[in-house]
Amino acid sequence: MMRIDILTLLPEAFIYLNYSILQRAQAAGLVDIHLHHLRESATGKHRVTDEPPFGGGGGMVLKPEPIFTAVESILQGEQMNDHPIILMTPQGRPFTQSIAQELSQHERLLLICGRYEGVDERVRQHLVTDEISIGDYVLTGGELAAMVVVDAVVRLLPGALGAAGAAETDSHATGLLEGPHYTKPASFRGWDVPDVLRSGHAGQVARWRRQEALRRTWERRPDLLLTAVLSEEDKWFLGQLAAGEEDT
Ligand code: ADE
Repeated sequence: MMRIDILTLLPEAFIYLNYSILQRAQAAGLVDIHLHHLRESATGKHRVTDEPPFGGGGGMVLKPEPIFTAVESILQGEQMNDHPIILMTPQGRPFTQSIAQELSQHERLLLICGRYEGVDERVRQHLVTDEISIGDYVLTGGELAAMVVVDAVVRLLPGALGAAGAAETDSHATGLLEGPHYTKPASFRGWDVPDVLRSGHAGQVARWRRQEALRRTWERRPDLLLTAVLSEEDKWFLGQLAAGEEDT
């Protein structure tokens, strides 16, 4: 079973993890998620977790001691370097499906949610082993980012999704965007489901899906085509798309 510890000033925010697939994954024993309130590791009458920055400049910075104390107590008895200690920050490496895959291989993860203007630099330098950003925008805290990472990682754990292999053709899992999906009714307000999907020819369906994934990626995220693994047939199809574009 994977274990995920989350250090935060706002454990209440993590209610999202109690629903749907994430809830079922925990109930099924695939993952054990522990929330830790940073304030509980702060000392003194007021259990202060943040202070203004040295040198001025406004905003508040999370103090190092409560974070070090909390992480060391969470990982007590464990070799500190054995498990990723990840700081959620807009300065981290951009989160991707392949990072989610990489993290899903670990037996333990520890996520630290930043708040205010940031965290004392010594946490970065001497405690964390990784820093992750979920995108080039600034959130008020790392909690939403941590939930994004936990969600993306947990759904990859074997058994988390209903159908075996359901994660394998996801957008990004293949390096491409997924093509369109349809369900009943076959005709809705005169808009019909493509015949091939109702043909019952598994081979033709698979080929159509691959081509629609390529088409969608070509239209929306051509940058992904530079790194996707492409067959000769894929390349031929992309050539057709490119030729079609020249005609118009
Ligand atoms: N904390 C604030 N903004 C963030 C972001 N974009 N990614 C991760 N953590 C954050």
